[in-house]
Amino acid sequence: MSLFQLTKSQSVIGLDITSTTVKLVELEAKGDEYTVKAFAVEPLPEGTVFEREIKNVMALSESVKRCLKKARTKCKQAVVAVPDQAVVTKIIDAPAEVGEFDLENYVNDQAPNFIPYSIDEVALDFDIIGPDHRAPDRQLLQLVAAKLEQLEDRTGCIKAADLKPKVVDVESYAYEHLLPIAAQMTGFDLANEVVAFVDAGATTTQFNVLSKGRLIHSRSLSFGGKSLTEDIMRRYGMSFPEAGRAKRTGELPDDYQHSLLEPFTEQLSAEISRAIQIYLSNGDGPDVERILLAGGCSAIANIEQTVQSITGLDCQVINPFESMKFAKSVNKDRLLEDGASMVVSAGLAIRGLM
Ligand SMILES: Nc1ncnc2c1ncn2[C@@H]1O[C@H](COP(=O)(O)OP(=O)(O)OP(=O)(O)O)[C@@H](O)[C@H]1O
Ligand SMILES: [Mg+2]
Repeated sequence: MSLFQLTKSQSVIGLDITSTTVKLVELEAKGDEYTVKAFAVEPLPEGTVFEREIKNVMALSESVKRCLKKARTKCKQAVVAVPDQAVVTKIIDAPAEVGEFDLENYVNDQAPNFIPYSIDEVALDFDIIGPDHRAPDRQLLQLVAAKLEQLEDRTGCIKAADLKPKVVDVESYAYEHLLPIAAQMTGFDLANEVVAFVDAGATTTQFNVLSKGRLIHSRSLSFGGKSLTEDIMRRYGMSFPEAGRAKRTGELPDDYQHSLLEPFTEQLSAEISRAIQIYLSNGDGPDVERILLAGGCSAIANIEQTVQSITGLDCQVINPFESMKFAKSVNKDRLLEDGASMVVSAGLAIRGLM
């Protein structure tokens, strides 16, 4: 699923615009093997992005330029994503005899019946799911409509950084693109298992359910590692950057583990457990069978064990770069250390290579 597909090329940049950073991963594909050509993370000035909305396009494009420089890449093709909040998706049906070419007109005609915005305010795209098994003369389509303003903010700022937007995706689809790699790494059955892919970041935890390799549910939880950083600041009288660094190095007083870290991992696990219950109570979705955990918070030692004991589900941390090759210029150890927080960038780059 994407909103534009422009050209095919050798290597592609996936660009994740988060609440506090820009994260870049450049990938190249040979067969089903990926090589990391470059990566970089650049912090955003305070107030650039708020609740996933870009508040300062100029500041963002300057940060993207710095990020490109840091990554030392010459690649110009980039994939960005609009946040799920800016998108409406809907499964609709169409007569089976309408061919791929005419479906575009069909979707344009039908869209106003399904989308709660004026059709002039959105960009439309669709994906053919396949035949409707309940009605042999119908086929199912996934319709996606993204708010133009949010889409243009993103494409505008990457164009200003001298990049070409190859694809504009929807953020949660990045997890779908990564799923085959995650299945290969952990040995789960992609074709049959239902997994929750949880990306625990700084301000949000993205909770996604995927069945048979497709995204079927997605929710953004307002909980992330920033609350632990703020607790460290308060308890030990540190600045925000000091607390962030201490969290990574573990250089904190002895009571940190018991007083702050354990309650945080328990709360995160409880949030995941609650998200699963909400997903199940929503309707007829299949039971979640395992959890794949990513995001900066997945770097907390043994976090998967706490998640496992609170949710009762098998939990594995996913670092997609463990299965990739690296160009000589890439700092492999650094990327392997931080890889679980770069899942969206990696998923977007993979989308650009499809
Ligand atoms: N080794 C570590 N131990 C504990 N926490 C860590 C570690 N490394 C990173 N973090 C925390 O992970 C969080 C950042 O995660 P991530 O990079 O996935 O967030 P983000 O994608 O920038 O934010 P968001 O998706 O919420 O906009 C921060 O709170 C950071 O302190
Ligand atoms: Mg994130």
